[in-house]
Amino acid sequence: MSVTQQQVLDSLGRVRSPRGVALNEANVLSDIAVNDGKVFFSINVDAQEARAWESVRAEAENAVRAIPGVTAAMIALTAERRPGSAPQQPRPPAGGVKPVSAHRHPPQPPGGSPMSRQAEIPGVAAIIAVASGKGGVGKSTTALNLALGLRDLGLKVGLLDADIYGPSVPRLTGIREKPELTEDRKMIPIERFGLAVMSIGFLVEEDTAMIWRGPMVMSAITQMLRDVVWGTLDVLVVDMPPGTGDAQLTLAQNVPLKGAVIVSTPQDLSLIDARRGLAMFTKVNVPVLGIVENMSYFQCPHCGTKSDIFGHGGARHEAERLGVPFLGEVPLHMAIRATSDAGQPVVVSEPDGPHAAIYRAIGAKVRDQLKGVIAAA
Ligand SMILES: Nc1ncnc2c1ncn2[C@@H]1O[C@H](COP(=O)(O)OP(=O)(O)O)[C@@H](O)[C@H]1O
Ligand SMILES: [Mg+2]
Repeated sequence: MSVTQQQVLDSLGRVRSPRGVALNEANVLSDIAVNDGKVFFSINVDAQEARAWESVRAEAENAVRAIPGVTAAMIALTAERRPGSAPQQPRPPAGGVKPVSAHRHPPQPPGGSPMSRQAEIPGVAAIIAVASGKGGVGKSTTALNLALGLRDLGLKVGLLDADIYGPSVPRLTGIREKPELTEDRKMIPIERFGLAVMSIGFLVEEDTAMIWRGPMVMSAITQMLRDVVWGTLDVLVVDMPPGTGDAQLTLAQNVPLKGAVIVSTPQDLSLIDARRGLAMFTKVNVPVLGIVENMSYFQCPHCGTKSDIFGHGGARHEAERLGVPFLGEVPLHMAIRATSDAGQPVVVSEPDGPHAAIYRAIGAKVRDQLKGVIAAA
């Protein structure tokens, strides 16, 4: 039985803040991430009160650990000082600080403007995002295989795993080593399958909790984008964090994206999420290169028979309705799952198979839309 956010909130209702308010009502909690029995979130408090909160944090952790099905709980206490130079944010209401989701505008770096942070990465012709409205739709699998499909078309390709909440590229690529540093302390991406690969997962263990406050998300990603020697690339594929919340919006706004690919499963709910993703990119003027329907139909690994268990074709209709390109359908197939989970993506392990051909065809459609941006296209 999987643990729900509501269960976590309920358990926090029994823990009291230093002022005696139930935690689930104290307006101090970040988004709660529940992943495979692991629960991560942060408690955001005023710096002056931080000391009083330490025991509350420990109590909250114990309460969450006691929920049946929870295998790990990691709760960070984060405190924010508000120097005079901080962005104009209203003072928090007494008894708590705004939750992370309320921090819409990360502070500007000194001397920086949104424009300078949008600056291109020298040597990288096109950065494209692979995004999804929600997790678990196969965004990372698509990002990696699409990167490999583009590689097969003769392009020089990099992959940046910006899904700092659940970096899965180390597992999908089987990369275990840590990136080395150059003399001027820039990270050297890890070369795998002919791709230049970078992931926050190379730097921290997959199971380590990662608690990111809004502004930290952007700074972690900016570092992975700018403090890495990417070399000369035609395309840098970015595996975005799932969802369309503030962190994603900030990212879409601050990374100099040439376009976005949206991954959806055919189920209605997932399509609604895809629509939100589309709206998000439109809002920040990033062209949507198209929609990929993942787990589009079930293909029996034994007899090859196709069955439309999720109502196949929803994404194609949706793309038509919204006037964005439809990039292709990827079946739900054991080979895709098994190869991904073994660190041998299907485009590498079965280069002559049908799935590799699908990813290359998707890659070709993406490349065609980047004509004029990448020299090799
Ligand atoms: N087309 C597919 N067929 C079978 N399994 C898939 C397919 N796409 C993804 N998966 C599997 O589904 C799970 C979630 O995929 P992942 O790419 O990690 O999703 P996300 O990045 O959206 O959370 C993984 O175990 C992956 O191997
Ligand atoms: Mg992922």
